[in-house]
Amino acid sequence: MPELINPTARLRASFLAAVTEFRQDRDTPVPWFVTDVDPPALTDARAFNAYVARVLGERDETAAPWDGFVPMTTLWWAEGDQMLGRLAIRHRLTPALEKAGGHIGYDVRPSARRQGHATAMLAAALPIAASLGITEALLTCDDTNTASQRVIEANGGRFIDTVGQKLRYWVPTS
Ligand SMILES: CC(C)(COP(=O)(O)OP(=O)(O)OC[C@H]1O[C@@H](n2cnc3c(N)ncnc32)[C@H](O)[C@@H]1OP(=O)(O)O)[C@@H](O)C(=O)NCCC(=O)NCCS
Repeated sequence: MPELINPTARLRASFLAAVTEFRQDRDTPVPWFVTDVDPPALTDARAFNAYVARVLGERDETAAPWDGFVPMTTLWWAEGDQMLGRLAIRHRLTPALEKAGGHIGYDVRPSARRQGHATAMLAAALPIAASLGITEALLTCDDTNTASQRVIEANGGRFIDTVGQKLRYWVPTS
């Protein structure tokens, strides 16, 4: 059974394979966490360890790598040694996140899509969001992103409104 786990150097090979898939996918925009990494550099074990440490450090309430940064808990959806997806919980909203991004974002690697992973991954993340003090999570998705709309609605998402091209929902976390 897949589960949400903390980012770990153990899954380096699968993470890098997933990044390659995301980059080659022509159906959806490349997620920012993928554009954020340099795969050839991360084949080096020490560089990958440092990357994992950086991502884990983003949870720190005192972390402020750039202006407007909100502490964020990144989790990987994994089964055995396979990284299937990635999810991030922003601990707080900002005016920008209220319009687009919300509390929780997620991506499933292209080869693992349409198997229920995003729906299960979001369900698994909601209690974690609750433990961070988020009683209702704001989720946003493009009005053309039918898959994400279904994921949100399957997790109890209550439609709020449309801001530009973004649909906004409140999702109860418990
Ligand atoms: C959106 C995304 C996370 C969905 O992941 P997934 O694991 O394939 O989703 P699920 O398998 O849980 O499917 C959820 C629902 O969407 C439907 N679905 C999945 N892909 C679909 C598609 N391309 N078109 C239409 N419906 C789709 C499924 O049939 C399912 O519907 P159901 O609940 O009625 O059975 C994935 O496509 C992805 O990573 N996309 C790129 C990044 C992204 O859009 N992230 C979300 C940002 S808000």
